[in-house]
Amino acid sequence: MKGVILAGGLGSRLYPLTHATNKHLLPIYDKPMIYYPINTLVKAGITEVIVVTGGPHAGDFIRVLKNGKELGLRHLEYAYQEMEGGIAQALALCEDFADNGPIAVILGDNTTDADISASVADFRGGATVFLRHVSDPQRFGVPVFAEDNSQRIIAIEEKPAQPKSNFAVTGLYLYDHVVFEYIRRTKPSGRGELEITDVNNLYIESGTLNWVSLGGFWSDAGTFESLFRSSLYWAEKAGWDQNI
Ligand code: G1P
Repeated sequence: MKGVILAGGLGSRLYPLTHATNKHLLPIYDKPMIYYPINTLVKAGITEVIVVTGGPHAGDFIRVLKNGKELGLRHLEYAYQEMEGGIAQALALCEDFADNGPIAVILGDNTTDADISASVADFRGGATVFLRHVSDPQRFGVPVFAEDNSQRIIAIEEKPAQPKSNFAVTGLYLYDHVVFEYIRRTKPSGRGELEITDVNNLYIESGTLNWVSLGGFWSDAGTFESLFRSSLYWAEKAGWDQNI
């Protein structure tokens, strides 16, 4: 399986930090943010990766990542997203890279210490999403479960005011090549973006969406609070000595 890291956007929620560089190159404790999703893919045996970025600081990535060898990548390429058109629009740029094969997609600001190797090894097509119990589901894509106790997801709602479950659809996804067909079928949402949630709902309609519960730590880092929380977690995990 190949890997896709989505690292575009203007990071406007993190101004003034993101005036100087792209959000995904800001530090989470002692590493640039994007190192973490790369590591998640490498740990799962995925070493052929594309980074999709955009905006005024796109060139910064090559200075930090170079050809990816130091991070364990065998092949690293880049794609440039011309507009801030959403996650699904960014993913559409990876169709040639995917070459009709399956892909693991991870949002560049999602850090986790979960091991997705088993899900990658077990993937047999369709889509797999990774769910996480959260206290603030209205910030995320939220699954709606069937009422028959089957634990089947019948829809995903993007940032619902009244969430129907306490789970977030995290920014990790496994897709077969049909994803590109589904992206072509989506239309811009209220926030003017092609939503990954709309793409996932097309998989649900076709009965080919599976879900897995994500273990370990997981957080996004697109706001000051979540950026800080992520840094704190990784610092503590690394044995940060608060007395120094
Ligand atoms: C995006 C997705 C959302 C998902 C979240 C995970 O939200 O649209 O469904 O739960 O990533 O980080 P965004 O960060 O673009 O607001």
